[in-house]
Amino acid sequence: MLSNKPSFFNALSPPSDSSLQDLSQGLLAPGAHCSPKYFYNALGSTLFDAITHLPEYYLTRTEAAIFGDHAEAIHGQISAQATWLDLGAGSCEKAARLFERTPPGLYVAVDISLTYLTDTLERLQREHPQVPMMGVGMDFSSALTFPPSLHAQLLARPVFAFYPGSSLGNFDPVQALGFLQRVATVCNAAKPGSGLLIGIDLVKDTAVLERAYADDLGVTAAFNLNVLRHMNTLLGADFDVRDWQHLARFSVKESRIEMHLQARREVTVSWSGHQRVFQKNETIHTENSYKWTVEKFSKLLRSAGFAQTQHWTDQQQQYAVFWAS
Ligand code: AVJ
Repeated sequence: MLSNKPSFFNALSPPSDSSLQDLSQGLLAPGAHCSPKYFYNALGSTLFDAITHLPEYYLTRTEAAIFGDHAEAIHGQISAQATWLDLGAGSCEKAARLFERTPPGLYVAVDISLTYLTDTLERLQREHPQVPMMGVGMDFSSALTFPPSLHAQLLARPVFAFYPGSSLGNFDPVQALGFLQRVATVCNAAKPGSGLLIGIDLVKDTAVLERAYADDLGVTAAFNLNVLRHMNTLLGADFDVRDWQHLARFSVKESRIEMHLQARREVTVSWSGHQRVFQKNETIHTENSYKWTVEKFSKLLRSAGFAQTQHWTDQQQQYAVFWAS
């Protein structure tokens, strides 16, 4: 049997001074904030994985149940021998589960962490030696541009874009539209039979939402607080985790979970030539996780340039998987 080796492409800009400056500026802003991408250092990624096992965090489990219950219909949408574009692939687990039934013609795993991807792709390649695989290190939140040779390969077959996990929730509606437009452009330029399969968390009872982001074991609190340690490493800051507490609130108006870190007392933090006093109860806004209705998200997909949409949900309509083509 033919045995492939994964190839890798790094389209990441090196951790630049300007991104550290953005981080620093965010901390100095009147409403202090930092990007949720800073959750994901080694410990943060492990804590997120733990979150997906929590009883309160229904998202991952419900998405998996939808994939299981509607496997026939979902697999029916994936073109044979398509180029799979796994966006934010991480452990590649979710795509690998779909491989068993519909093997890709080419599997392109895109993730912000190329080191993580390298290990997982090499493992996955051993399990599926016949599938050509490629790992791309890319921050696709601002652009979706591939090196010319890969771009040509992408468009030579139908593209199956895969964005599970409700990660789109980190984008505000304007950013989400921009991202979906970029994916639609790729799908529309590729061979017919292309489309996007995307998981979206739905608006629901506030108490259920807030419990999912403030679990009883405090795993999400640890996940949120860990960003302070990551900033200590990145900026040489002196945050003391014990000075801060985790907050998660659902804003009905914005239709989003907001996570914050709140100062338990007045604290002074210093890093590379900067200093800031945080008043007691002042917060650092660390994440937004937008929740959609089926109607609004279907409309968003249409305005992004997809001609057709359909979706599958669980019985309680907690979560939806959309197919847009
Ligand atoms: C990875 C963005 C989908 O918003 O539910 C989980 C991140 N934050 N618990 C989400 C997260 C707190 C997660 N996403």
